[in-house]
Amino acid sequence: MSAHDSLDLVIRRADVVTASDRFRCDIGVRNGQIVALGHALPQGAREIDADGLLALPGGVDGHCHLDQPMPDGLRMADDFFTGTRAAVCGGTTTVIPFAAQEKGASLKAAVADYHRRAEGRAVIDYAFHLIVADPTPAVLADELPALIRKGYSSFKVYMTYDDLKLSDREMLSVLDVAKQNGALVMVHAENADCISWLTDKLVGEGRIAPRFHGLARPAAVEREATHRAITFAELVDVPILIVHVSGKEAIEQIRWAQGRGLQILAETCPQYLYLTADDMALPGDDGYEGAKCVCSPPPRDPENQAAVWRALTNGVFSVFSSDHAPFRYDDPQGKQPGGERPSFEHIPNGVPGIETRLPLLFDGVARGKLSLHQFVELTSWRPARLYGLYPRKGTIAIGADADIVLWDPNQRVQIRNSALHHAVDYTPYEGIEVTGWPVHCFSRGEMLVRDGQYQEPQAGRGQFLPAGAPMLG
Ligand code: URP
Ligand code: ZN
Ligand code: ZN
Repeated sequence: MSAHDSLDLVIRRADVVTASDRFRCDIGVRNGQIVALGHALPQGAREIDADGLLALPGGVDGHCHLDQPMPDGLRMADDFFTGTRAAVCGGTTTVIPFAAQEKGASLKAAVADYHRRAEGRAVIDYAFHLIVADPTPAVLADELPALIRKGYSSFKVYMTYDDLKLSDREMLSVLDVAKQNGALVMVHAENADCISWLTDKLVGEGRIAPRFHGLARPAAVEREATHRAITFAELVDVPILIVHVSGKEAIEQIRWAQGRGLQILAETCPQYLYLTADDMALPGDDGYEGAKCVCSPPPRDPENQAAVWRALTNGVFSVFSSDHAPFRYDDPQGKQPGGERPSFEHIPNGVPGIETRLPLLFDGVARGKLSLHQFVELTSWRPARLYGLYPRKGTIAIGADADIVLWDPNQRVQIRNSALHHAVDYTPYEGIEVTGWPVHCFSRGEMLVRDGQYQEPQAGRGQFLPAGAPMLG
């Protein structure tokens, strides 16, 4: 290597783990990219000794909500600055939040607005999924195909929530656009009418505390919608990805479809491994504190948690995402809307988890539940491929961005909200002890976290990543 090939950064004695391989070498970085993997690399401008640490590709969080415009005076606590700061402190170096169309508005306008929210704020790289809430003829014929071509190759559709849900017919039309244009559709699968009927019944009986959220959205409601979404995908003959799968009933549907040879992909999230319905019944604030854990689909029970852990290792799930949906608890724009403690159906849905996603899953590696390669596959390699960012993201290879996390597999950490970097005033995982934590995190070769300490990089250094075609294999 000649002088003009000098390296900006050399990570020495790295124990590199990718989705498929494990090898020991030095990693050479120039201009933000990995340019050498080898032994005894020449001196770099900056040197880091990784002995005793794992070198993992930075996490890719394929499902998180940052600064997403909200109805009814609600507001997400994390914008692109605090959200990406928290992400990188937890070992994630790419995020893919959602540019959400409002009913009656254009999709292009949502994308333009979302770029304005990210620019100058993000500290790590980001792509956008779209949310298609109003598939008008113009959206289906023009806007959506044009956006797919411009680098927005995945979008989410909802089967529930009044302001977002699509009819069955609209679902079919949207899936057809995905098929014609090579996009990947992510589906929020819960049956809206069942939820509203159950909700009315519960509220009519005065059962309004946060814990009743779980009774309004039982597993059958998720199972039915999952099956229906699978049927739509089969009719249109297009792959789909079912997001935030909560337990065994939906898993059974997905396994059944996969067994029939359908390309049904699936995602789960930390809340379905670590929370149960009991967490929505936290006793504080006269039973209202359970609002902290209200999300949809809701957390279920230990048997379902075990089914979700199993499905992470037997191929049912392709990706493990945070579904970070950051609402502050003690906040009139958050979990106590307008300063009230309303009945469960008015509590904003979602839990924070962008920083704790990787440590919570890695603890499963430490406990022998999944392999290191499975961990990397679920949290980085597969989301990078599915969402059109591979091989720039999702692996440690020559030519890839130097998004690298040096991970201590033995560090024991008790999760405390006071130590996290999001702008939410709680974590649902308070007090949980995990083994394994990110020590140093690099984004395009820049060290954003050193010895677990955030290095205050320039806000706005994060770049938008136009997504290519989804890679399903
Ligand atoms: O409860 C949840 N998951 N809220 C976030 C929005 C969504 O549906 O993913
Ligand atoms: Zn959803
Ligand atoms: Zn979500």
